[in-house]
Amino acid sequence: MEKDEILLLEKAEKTHNLSEEEILVLLKMQDASPLFKCADNVRKLYIGGGVHLRALIEFSNYCKRNCLYCGLRCENKKVQRYRIEPESIIELAKKAKSYGYKTIVLQSGEDAYYSVEKLAFIISEIKKLDIALTLSIGEKTYEEYKAYKEAGADRYLIRIETTDEKLYSKFNPQMSLKNRMLCIENIKRLGYEVGSGIIAGLPRQTLESIAKDILYLKSIPVDMAGIGPFIYHPDTPIEKSEGNFFELSLKIMAVLRLLMPSINIPATTAMESLNPNGRILALQSGANVVMPNATETVYRKFYEIYPGKICLGDSPKHCRFCIEGKITSIERTII
Ligand code: 5AD
Ligand code: SF4
Ligand code: FES
Repeated sequence: MEKDEILLLEKAEKTHNLSEEEILVLLKMQDASPLFKCADNVRKLYIGGGVHLRALIEFSNYCKRNCLYCGLRCENKKVQRYRIEPESIIELAKKAKSYGYKTIVLQSGEDAYYSVEKLAFIISEIKKLDIALTLSIGEKTYEEYKAYKEAGADRYLIRIETTDEKLYSKFNPQMSLKNRMLCIENIKRLGYEVGSGIIAGLPRQTLESIAKDILYLKSIPVDMAGIGPFIYHPDTPIEKSEGNFFELSLKIMAVLRLLMPSINIPATTAMESLNPNGRILALQSGANVVMPNATETVYRKFYEIYPGKICLGDSPKHCRFCIEGKITSIERTII
């Protein structure tokens, strides 16, 4: 290992502060195993061995947006679209609770079918189960975020995706980085716990821009940061990015752990989709959260953000116990 890398890891471990240039050095490490080890130590020291499980319910794959990288984009006519009705979403949440989950994450494309009234109903019914509730339903107005909060939502996930203006406007037509940032600020201001993050490996995304993304997440500061490796979807118009971005995602995640030692960091589904042991490797490189799929099996194959997504043929119950086995096999505990 290079001497400057050792010094930087020591500095990060002690101060939890690095400049953009210093972050770049870590992202460029040839052999990143010392970085992963260091992030694992910081995780252990600050938050211990517990792993939080969040039950993910993908309740609608309709989306009015047209992100160039995403299989659910409105112009992808090959997708069979589905919506789960409010009553059935509530039933799924009850089922997830019975499997021991303490948090439900409701995720969908940006789907106007779910009005503020419908969502407020769903949220308040799920909150009666005495369980934490996270929303991941995209860009909304301040008033909408406020109404969901008042109905009982606790947390909100919204990735910044990239803080590179040029890339953002290229990949997210009719959307703006400025508004995305405003949404994140509004969510924070309303008292939600904020989860954000990026896609790693987008065509023409540079390590310099990723270093800026990391500093942006720290500046908020976010309560949770998730990194998804870009996986090319053949039914999207984006150019094919060469390479497997699993290792890059792991590096970004590890740097985030060094800079934000107490936040929640998920071992993401996209990581496991690229590497059969991806979530475990992530849990050993700084992560402390897993979000198993709790969507009914019949819908799973239609929520194809990217190809090769794991768990498509599995049931909510199967995933709950599958992940427990994996987590306990590395001597970590579910909390
Ligand atoms: N590869 C990896 N992640 C993707 N996402 C969207 N498309 C892709 C893709 N092709 C991620 C985005 C979004 C989340 C729901 O899925 O980061 O926020
Ligand atoms: Fe819709 Fe999200 Fe996919 Fe963009 S990334 S098209 S907002 S589901
Ligand atoms: Fe779904 Fe293992 S978590 S099959």
